[in-house]
Amino acid sequence: MKIGFDETNLLAGMVGEEHGITPAEWSQNQERAREALSGFRKLSESGEIGFPHLPFQTATVDAVRQYAAEVRKSYESVCLVGIGGSALGAWALDCGMRGPHPVQGSFTPTHPRLVILDNVDPSLVSAALASMNPKKTLVLAIAKSGGTPETVAAFLIVHDWLERAMGRKTARRIAVVTSQGRGDLAALAAQEGYRTFCLPDNVGGRFSVLSAVGLLPAALIGIDIRKLVRGAASVTRECWQQDLKKNTALRSALCHYLVWTLKKKSIQVAFPYSNRLWGAAFWFRQLWAESLGKARNRAGALVHTGQTPVAALGTTDQHSQVQLYIEGPNDKVFTFWRPEKYPETGKIPKRRFGLDAFDYLAGQTLAKLIDAEQRSTAAALTEAGRPNCAFTLGRMDEEHLGGFLQLLEFQTAFMGELLGINAFDQEGVELGKRFTSGLMGRKGFDEYLRNFQDYERRRAKVTR
Ligand code: PA5
Repeated sequence: MKIGFDETNLLAGMVGEEHGITPAEWSQNQERAREALSGFRKLSESGEIGFPHLPFQTATVDAVRQYAAEVRKSYESVCLVGIGGSALGAWALDCGMRGPHPVQGSFTPTHPRLVILDNVDPSLVSAALASMNPKKTLVLAIAKSGGTPETVAAFLIVHDWLERAMGRKTARRIAVVTSQGRGDLAALAAQEGYRTFCLPDNVGGRFSVLSAVGLLPAALIGIDIRKLVRGAASVTRECWQQDLKKNTALRSALCHYLVWTLKKKSIQVAFPYSNRLWGAAFWFRQLWAESLGKARNRAGALVHTGQTPVAALGTTDQHSQVQLYIEGPNDKVFTFWRPEKYPETGKIPKRRFGLDAFDYLAGQTLAKLIDAEQRSTAAALTEAGRPNCAFTLGRMDEEHLGGFLQLLEFQTAFMGELLGINAFDQEGVELGKRFTSGLMGRKGFDEYLRNFQDYERRRAKVTR
């Protein structure tokens, strides 16, 4: 398995000293990277942070595979009800291994469809339900906390839809992933007898793709999860290496840290040249934003740090975003994600029409074209002094995808250490959630309802 990282276009020699890393900056910060590695290693070894251990938890992999084998062919759709870290990993895996969502081929019991309800927009929920047959659907409710209002509300609707068709057999068509013995989803699963899988307490939602949170939906749609974790295990071993040449996650974290903090690139564009990696780009957005966007550092000082992640798709966004990227503010770093070898070549027929714009492409391949476009965009950005780098996945298979997601999680953890922040909490999303609970009448949230009403009164009085 091979996942390469090419940082050449981040260097001052390519984009100039104002925007690129100088040799002195690189060498002065080697020690800092090693400290980040040992700091994170302590968190992992003490058991405080659990995601590095997930690829080695064979009992979970075996239990998920066994369940998938038991229910195989009894459904043609898997309806995942979850949000954030409880949904994005499944989307990344589905998209990566089975292709972009609208064009995955016709769905059958041996090639089931994955429908993800990760929003409470009534149009999404009603259209999704109308597109599935409840007698041929397996429902997965996934929530680490077990009480996320969006997930609970969508689940109540899906449950009712399922029960009308399945009656007393409803519970057999529902599986749950949640924290062990904690939260109301675990309580409901125990009460109703749903098949339940747990994710460890020391694994946060956005780091949970290689727990049952991502592995269960993946196995149910036919992805080989043993290969996913094999790739992730191999990357994990690399991620503990001291040598920056051998430790891609640490090297890429240090590169991104330097261009962000020294060269003021406050936006990172994750730029896959592959529709198969588009789901992973959205998964990464959450990982990077929620982990690194923090008010305070570990010492308690107010820092308001964070690099804004943006997802762009090559080649599509060359015709939408690249004008801004080349000529707009030089406040971004671009990280291309590219397969070394595309799974399909996309042969262009040899037919010639006697027209210049058509004939030079005849007989070539789409794979060659997309590769040429990525290298050309990297060159154009570099010529404009815009730092960019590239991850290259040797193949687009389960091992590489599992390995790449694990690598990005390590990169995020190392970045958290470099910045001196806690990358594993998300206090910032709590207040909005509490206001919603107050507004929707949840018991114990009256104080937030009152705070929200104060805020509305202030809005009504404010003058222009
Ligand atoms: O990374 C996180 O912890 C969050 O983004 C969660 O994944 C998200 O809020 C959903 O939480 P839950 O799984 O409890 O429904």
